[in-house]
Amino acid sequence: MSDFMTRYKRSHYCGDLNENNDGQDVVLMGWAHRRRDHGGVIFVDLRDREGITQVVFNPETSEACHAEAGRIRGEFVLAIHGRVRRRPEGMENPDLKTGKIEVVADELEILNESKTPPFMLDQTTEISESVRLKYRYIDLRRPEMQKNLILRSKVAMATRDYFNREGFIEIETPFLTKSTPEGARDYLVPSRVNQGMFYALPQSPQLFKQLLMVSGFDKYFQIVKCFRDEDLRADRQPEFTQIDVEMSFITEEQIITLIEGLITHLFDACLEKKLPLPFPRITYQEAMSRFGKDNPDLRFGMEMRELTDILKNSGLKLFADIAASGGVIKAIKVDDAKGLSRKDLDELKDFVGKYGAGGLAWARVTPEGWTSPIFKFLTPEEVSAINERMEAKEGAVILFVADTPGVVRDALGNLRVHLAKKLGLIDPAALAFTWVTNFPLFEYSDTEKRYMATHHPFTAPVMDDMQFIETDPGKIHARAYDLVLNGSEIGGGSIRIHQKDVQSAIFKALGIDEENARLKFGFLLDALEYGTPPHGGIAFGLDRLVMLMTGAESIRDVIAFPKTQKATCLLTDAPSDVSMQQLMELSLKVVV
Ligand code: AMO
Repeated sequence: MSDFMTRYKRSHYCGDLNENNDGQDVVLMGWAHRRRDHGGVIFVDLRDREGITQVVFNPETSEACHAEAGRIRGEFVLAIHGRVRRRPEGMENPDLKTGKIEVVADELEILNESKTPPFMLDQTTEISESVRLKYRYIDLRRPEMQKNLILRSKVAMATRDYFNREGFIEIETPFLTKSTPEGARDYLVPSRVNQGMFYALPQSPQLFKQLLMVSGFDKYFQIVKCFRDEDLRADRQPEFTQIDVEMSFITEEQIITLIEGLITHLFDACLEKKLPLPFPRITYQEAMSRFGKDNPDLRFGMEMRELTDILKNSGLKLFADIAASGGVIKAIKVDDAKGLSRKDLDELKDFVGKYGAGGLAWARVTPEGWTSPIFKFLTPEEVSAINERMEAKEGAVILFVADTPGVVRDALGNLRVHLAKKLGLIDPAALAFTWVTNFPLFEYSDTEKRYMATHHPFTAPVMDDMQFIETDPGKIHARAYDLVLNGSEIGGGSIRIHQKDVQSAIFKALGIDEENARLKFGFLLDALEYGTPPHGGIAFGLDRLVMLMTGAESIRDVIAFPKTQKATCLLTDAPSDVSMQQLMELSLKVVV
C-alpha cells in the first residue's frame, strides 16, 4: 500500500464540500475527470460517486506536487491532501455543487494510472451503447449512471422499510426450480446429478409465494430476480427484478390500498415527490376501447372514438364493406395539427401498416370545411356528425382506421402514442398512474386455437361468471389488477384460486388435462387440499419503476450489467461455448 494511504484516511467525498469547509484540511480520493494547465497552475477536476471538486496544484504551494500533477491524465486514480478555500470572485462555477470552493493541494499521490478510456466521461455527444456495455465499468462511472444506481438502491431500501413496517416477512425462494407459467419461454439449466433432467429458472416466484401462504406466513415480500426468455424491448430484460408480494385473508381493495401506500412512500422517500391518492382506475374494457391498450398512457388525450354507426352506410364503399363484415371504424383527433404536413400524414399510413391496417384516412378541419381525400364520398350530415362525435374544431386533423376490431385497436392505440411523442404533447414531468381492473380471465389465441390465461392460471375468477366456464369462457372476468404508469405496466397481480375444484376447472378450460396438471403443478394441487387460506398478491417490475423514476429511456440504464436486445452480455461475452468435458458431464450434445 502506498505511503499516502497509510498516513491518511479519506475525510470527505469530493461532491460533499462547500463554502462551510472553507479553511479546512481535507483528504480526497477519486478519479481525474479533467485536467487543465493554466500557465504554471494545474487544475484537476477530481471525481467520486458524490460529485466533482476542483483541485489546484500551484508550484508556490508545493513544487513537488505540481511537478507530479503534470503526469496526470484522464481517469488516473489520485489521492490528495490540501486546504479548502473559496474560489476568487468571478471564478465560481454555478453548474457545480461544489462550485464556490476549490482545494489547494499540498500533497499528491497517483494511486494508479489509466489507459486512455474508450470514451471520455465528460463527453456530451452520444456514445454508442455497445461501447458503453463492453466497457460497462467505465460507463458506470458517469455521473448519470451513478445517480440511477444510487436511486435504485434507495428504492430497494425504502421498499424494505415499508414492508417491514407493514409486518411483512422477506423470504427467499429457489432459482433452480420447475417451470412456472408466466407466458414466456423458460431458461433451462441441465442437471449433472440427474442426467437428462433440467431445472427451469423461475419466471416469477408465483407458486412458491402461494405455498408460503399455505404455510401461514400471511404477509410475504421479496426483491427477487426473475428470468424470462422472451423478445426483448426497451422495457424488457431476460433477467429482471420484481418486488414480489403475497398476503392471506385479503381483498383486492386491501391490496390496492397497501400498494398505493408503497408507491407514495417510494416517491416521497426517494424523490421527495408527493403523489395524490387514490390513483385513478379504469376497466380493461374501457382502456381498450378508449386507448387501444391495456397499459394506457394517460398523460395526453387523443382518445379513440367509434364512428361505425355514422359510417356504416356511407358512400365510401370501403368503410361500408368493412362495417358490413363485422369490422369497425374508429378515429383519433389531433387538436392543433399545424405540425402535421401532408407528407407526414402520408407517412402515418406506413406506421399503421405495421399493425396490419390497410390504410389511414384523414381529414383536416379548416374554416371552409374539410380538406380530405374522403370528403367527396361523404354526405354533409355524415361530416357534421363526425365533427360532433370527435369534438373537432378548426385546425384539427381526424385520423380514421377501418378494419377488424383488433387491428383498429392496435393501429390507433400505437398511432396515438407515436403522435404524442412526435408532436411533443407529453409533459416530461407528468406522472399518470392508473389501475386497470376487470380483466378477462382468458384470451383466445388464434395461433394456439385455445384459451390462454390473461395473467396466469392461478388467478381467481369472479365467481358469478363461473357459470360460463363450459359455454363461453371468454366471458369470465378475473379478480386481477395491473398498475400502469405513463403507459408502462409497472405491476400486476390478482386474488388467487384457493379451492382445488376451481383450480381444476380452470386448468380444464385452458386445455391442461388432469395428468398434465399433476405433472406440472401437482405440488400446488396437493397443497390446496391442506387448508389453503384465501390469498392474493402483486409483483412490480423494479427495473421499470426505477426507469420511470429516473426518466431513463431504457431499463438497461438502471441495471448495472444488463443484456443487449439479443440477450448477450458484451462485457463478459455471455452466453459462450462450454468445453466438451462440461457437456459430457451433463450428457449433452450440441447439434447446431
Ligand atoms: P407479471 O408477469 O405481470 O406478473 O410481472 C410483474 C411485473 O414485472 C415486470 N416485468 C418485466 N420487467 C422487465 N423485463 C421483463 N422481461 C419483465 N416481465 C415482467 C412488469 C410486470 O408488471 N407472478 C405475477 C405477479 C402476481 O400475480 O403476483 C407476475 O410475475 O413490470
